[in-house]
Amino acid sequence: MVADSIAVYIHFPFCLSICPYCDFDRQATGFDRIGVYLGAVERELRQYAPRGERVHSIFIGGGTPSLMSVAQVRRLLEVVRDQFDVTSNAEITLECNPGDADVAKLIGFRAAGATRLSFGVQSLDDAFLKVLGRRHSSDEARQAAAWAKRADFAFNLDFMFGLPAQTLEHWQRTLDQAVELEPDHLSCYLLTLDEKVQMGRDVARGKLVLPADDDLAEMYTATRRQLADAGFEQYEISNWARPGQASRHNLTYWRDGQWIGLGAGAASAYHGRRWKNTPVLERYIASVSRSGVADTVEDETPDAQTRMLDALTLGLRLREGISLDGFERRFGVQLTELLGETGDWLLAGGFLETDAERIRIDAEHQLIANEILVRVEEALADYVRRETRAAQIASR
Ligand SMILES: C[S@@+](CC[C@H](N)C(=O)[O-])C[C@H]1O[C@@H](n2cnc3c(N)ncnc32)[C@H](O)[C@@H]1O
Ligand code: SF4
Repeated sequence: MVADSIAVYIHFPFCLSICPYCDFDRQATGFDRIGVYLGAVERELRQYAPRGERVHSIFIGGGTPSLMSVAQVRRLLEVVRDQFDVTSNAEITLECNPGDADVAKLIGFRAAGATRLSFGVQSLDDAFLKVLGRRHSSDEARQAAAWAKRADFAFNLDFMFGLPAQTLEHWQRTLDQAVELEPDHLSCYLLTLDEKVQMGRDVARGKLVLPADDDLAEMYTATRRQLADAGFEQYEISNWARPGQASRHNLTYWRDGQWIGLGAGAASAYHGRRWKNTPVLERYIASVSRSGVADTVEDETPDAQTRMLDALTLGLRLREGISLDGFERRFGVQLTELLGETGDWLLAGGFLETDAERIRIDAEHQLIANEILVRVEEALADYVRRETRAAQIASR
């Protein structure tokens, strides 16, 4: 990835129906507003008056971007190219729901400039696809993978594990079947349910039962082993790729790079500022029509502590971890000193591992990464308290 280039994310929030586990910014209404919405995205893009900024990745995510026509995708990509210097080998990903796009449409997306597809497959078992409220069948998912190859795309398949009543053996079979589809990239997410979503409420009421924690840990270990045996390299907690096929777009986020997000609910991290556009479609459209700029629901210029926290919590998700030297150069503090006793404890307990150059979460402990990151956050807060106190004493 080119360090001085940025990524562009475009959000397409429309879905034909809402899956009962999904907590993303999406809606199954307002289809008559798609044209107006895309016009607003274009207008929002135009605020970045051509600056010659280099772009190494464009990701059109959702929602269900495969509902867009080929002409709409082509138009969006043209506008991005008008506003930015999109590098000749840029990764240009379109998120697709299997069953939405036939081979002719995929070939059209390829001709429009997309280079990579990401399919939300979730499962290759029709019974589970039904529980998940998916509109596609396992055969349609297989067909979509074959068509992606025919249309000359690099492609990712998203799966979820830890589904209600799922067994280890079932998940292992899914992984074997996933590998048979010859994807370049696999994302395997642990199903995580918010109480706001239908499946979360069903679990809370006991209507659905999720696998026990020990079973989830075994499923995760099996994922790592099976995908490694099949030639995939794990590069992030939930992401595996054939050599050279790691997603440059996702790496931009985890390496704490810069990106511009366009559309309702899209987040951006650009020139030291972080913001999130309003996820409310009509408010987004109205604000952009009025001023060319979207209303935001979050907007901040993070202080040093927040920037350090972001660098740590994002970088530690990666198998490559964080460069000790790079961290010190960027923030002027040694990472091991910052982590202090908590860091020593995390290292001694085998939760973190380090060599002379980098620090990362131990491979066997990735499933509890969130708990480890909470300790890292506490260590950072302790460090800031120590430093503030030392500065107060020095100034007396
Ligand atoms: C932004 S979503 C949208 C993808 C696309 N609309 C689809 O559903 O096919 C990207 C991926 O996040 C994952 N995902 C969504 N909700 C999840 C949840 N509650 N727990 C874990 N993973 C989830 C799914 O694997 C999904 O394919
Ligand atoms: S999982 Fe995908 S298709 Fe389902 S509601 Fe969420 S964004 Fe839409």
